[in-house]
Amino acid sequence: MRLSALLPALCCTAALILSFLCLFAGHKKGFMEDYHVMTLNTSRIGEGVVNSTLGSSDSPLSSLWNLVPDSIQNDVGEAAGAVTEQLGIEDFYSAHLLDYCYGQFTPAEAANSTLSLSDIHKSVTGCSNQTAMFWFDPEVILEQALNKTGLGITLDDLEWPEDIQRGLDALRIVSITSFVLYCIAIALIFVALVAALPAIFAAGRLAACLNLMVTILAFLAIGLASALVTAVSVKGSSIINQYGNDIGVQANRGNKFLALTWVATALMFITLVTWSVELCFGHRKRQTYAAGKHG
Ligand SMILES: *[C@@H]1O[C@H](CO)[C@@H](O)[C@H](O)[C@H]1NC(C)=O
Ligand SMILES: *[C@@H]1O[C@H](CO)[C@@H](O)[C@H](O)[C@H]1NC(C)=O
Ligand SMILES: *[C@@H]1O[C@H](CO)[C@@H](O)[C@H](O)[C@H]1NC(C)=O
Ligand SMILES: *[C@@H]1O[C@H](CO)[C@@H](O)[C@H](O)[C@H]1NC(C)=O
Ligand SMILES: *[C@@H]1O[C@H](CO)[C@@H](O)[C@H](O)[C@H]1NC(C)=O
Repeated sequence: MRLSALLPALCCTAALILSFLCLFAGHKKGFMEDYHVMTLNTSRIGEGVVNSTLGSSDSPLSSLWNLVPDSIQNDVGEAAGAVTEQLGIEDFYSAHLLDYCYGQFTPAEAANSTLSLSDIHKSVTGCSNQTAMFWFDPEVILEQALNKTGLGITLDDLEWPEDIQRGLDALRIVSITSFVLYCIAIALIFVALVAALPAIFAAGRLAACLNLMVTILAFLAIGLASALVTAVSVKGSSIINQYGNDIGVQANRGNKFLALTWVATALMFITLVTWSVELCFGHRKRQTYAAGKHG
């Protein structure tokens, strides 16, 4: 047993599990929903409607306003919630690598004096079908929801900003590339793990060299995948926040997902360092031993 070779095997195993979880987090209802790439908070999308219809009665949305019970028409927050519900739009939509999930905030949509933001939980209603090369497209998702209600209201009526779509379109290819890289990384980490197992029992310069090469490739794949998905998460949510705040749409990046993927990357980095050390010093140790035997 060589303990120095056990460490890479353990790191590869952990990295493999974490990469799998990155790929499959949120792939079905209730499975690691918190590990999303980003979340769209649409619970206040009705506020724009409330504001624009309060002033005028000839707005295309005034029919919607009439559906709001009189008793809550004075409370913008409550009325906005009711309008959002009428629109068939959920409180949140969270993007994962293979699909998106949606649902309601419980017990309430926004914090108040007695309810802090950390006490608000997501209750997932459902998830979309999983697809490879999935891309989170809020415009299509919201349009489908609006179409389903049959009220004849479009995203244009809600003054959905074109800039959000333009910004997100630029990230589409980045997101799809990151998905492909995750698949490649999982395959390479698996190869690195299998290659590390014989090294636990026997040392060899060639083996260490092969291990190092596979590990470098695996590290590059998972590192690049993590970098790209971080760009999607950070840039995507900042675009949505920049243009969406006017209509009450907010986005949050998925910090837990980012932690998961960067820990996997760090584990592959540790593996890489271990093999490099093994290659340099493991060799020298054998040489000293041989020299000692000679003299
Ligand atoms: C709606 O109006 C209220 C009060 O005038 C304002 O605080 C809020 O930001 C407005 N919301 C939107 C989405 O325009
Ligand atoms: C805060 O929200 C909760 C949940 O909707 C509600 O029960 C409570 O009355 C609210 N508190 C205030 C001060 O509005
Ligand atoms: C959702 O967004 C609104 C503003 O658009 C915010 O007031 C509310 O706190 C957010 N809710 C959660 C649970 O993040
Ligand atoms: C999801 O998959 C199911 C069965 O595989 C299918 O019946 C359904 O139409 C699909 N839904 C969408 C939105 O593609
Ligand atoms: C929603 O309905 C409009 C008009 O009926 C149609 O043009 C659009 O493609 C539909 N959108 C989706 C996502 O089904």
